[in-house]
Amino acid sequence: MAETKRIAIIAGDGIGPEVVAEAVKVLRKTEELFGVKLETESGLFGGIAIDERGTPLPEDTLEMCKRADAVLLGAVGGPKWDNNPKELRPETGLLGIRKALGLFSNIRPAVVFDCLKEASTLKPEVLEGTDLIVVRELTGGIYFGDKYREQRNGVEHAVDTCVYNVNEVERIVRQAFEIARTRRKKLASVDKANVLETSRLWRETVVRVAADYPDVELEHVLVDNCAMQLLRRPASFDVIVTENMFGDILSDEAAMLTGSIGMLSSASLGEGSFGLYEPVHGSAPDIAGQGIANPIATILSVALMFKLSFGWHEAGDVIENAVKSVLDAGHRTADIAVDKSKAIGTSAMGDLIVAAM
Ligand code: NAI
Ligand code: MG
Repeated sequence: MAETKRIAIIAGDGIGPEVVAEAVKVLRKTEELFGVKLETESGLFGGIAIDERGTPLPEDTLEMCKRADAVLLGAVGGPKWDNNPKELRPETGLLGIRKALGLFSNIRPAVVFDCLKEASTLKPEVLEGTDLIVVRELTGGIYFGDKYREQRNGVEHAVDTCVYNVNEVERIVRQAFEIARTRRKKLASVDKANVLETSRLWRETVVRVAADYPDVELEHVLVDNCAMQLLRRPASFDVIVTENMFGDILSDEAAMLTGSIGMLSSASLGEGSFGLYEPVHGSAPDIAGQGIANPIATILSVALMFKLSFGWHEAGDVIENAVKSVLDAGHRTADIAVDKSKAIGTSAMGDLIVAAM
């Protein structure tokens, strides 16, 4: 019997449905090529769910996600809902779904495609071979610690607290080691252990967990140094693991190595193999409905899903190689085209990638 996986699809708003439609073509092609079965179910989420159901995250959509092996998300949001009260905003649905599904890490690959090296602000020879993943802790740290204002001796003070417990650190560090094992077996753990107590706990935990992964080469990098090394020697990194705020900043820096937001995929993972996969970009209201959005970030999110949630490395490679070959042949959507007059649309790009698979 063919292997079957269930994928919950929440396309969302703006260009979400446009880019997700191309990713679904890739799912169907994968079934054909690998003899697997991908059962898909779709649900309302974000602004469209607010309009039709009065909430950004309807209960049946959440149930559908919980039944699935993985979730594919397009994007949510748009000016139409920007002035809504908090509980009627699409972003509230995003936070809600991550929490309800127990997703505690965010994973962002930054891969530099040879043919797009010129699109980056860095020198092509520095970028050569860059293929890294940033694993960011999502549930702890200074973003979630106690925060308040108070007067001390008549002077206004503001306080943010950074808190981590050892279990929060250990689960994400293990996940990063596991991911490194499926790649080039190199892990860079990023902290500020020379000044922060939470970073000292982080580093102790990394050292302890590393004993279970003798096959993975480990380096500890201080966060300020990591910010420099990402610009100096990006190709030397494989997997980078770090806490919430450092990861927020470093993942954006790593993303910019690649040049375009329309190319960046991401995953949010919890315990086990379940994950939520989505492009890094938003709903792009400025180009929605025109059929010109770049579907590659969403298509690469499917490749990431196959690798991280299903362990289907070959199928993931087939998708990534198809994207490479279509780009090498010179096909571009408008966001990555030098000559915009030669740019192709969303659906044409999806079809070319499917054909290249
Ligand atoms: P955005 O990522 O939607 O767009 C930024 C710029 O990049 C725009 O000029 C857009 O046209 C372009 N762009 C984005 N994706 C593209 C693609 N696939 N192909 C070609 N061009 C692309 O970010 P922005 O404008 O700040 O936010 C728009 C809406 O999306 C807001 O409502 C925001 O809250 C929401 N948003 C949702 C996210 C999510 O669903 N995870 C993430 C980020 C923003
Ligand atoms: Mg950010």
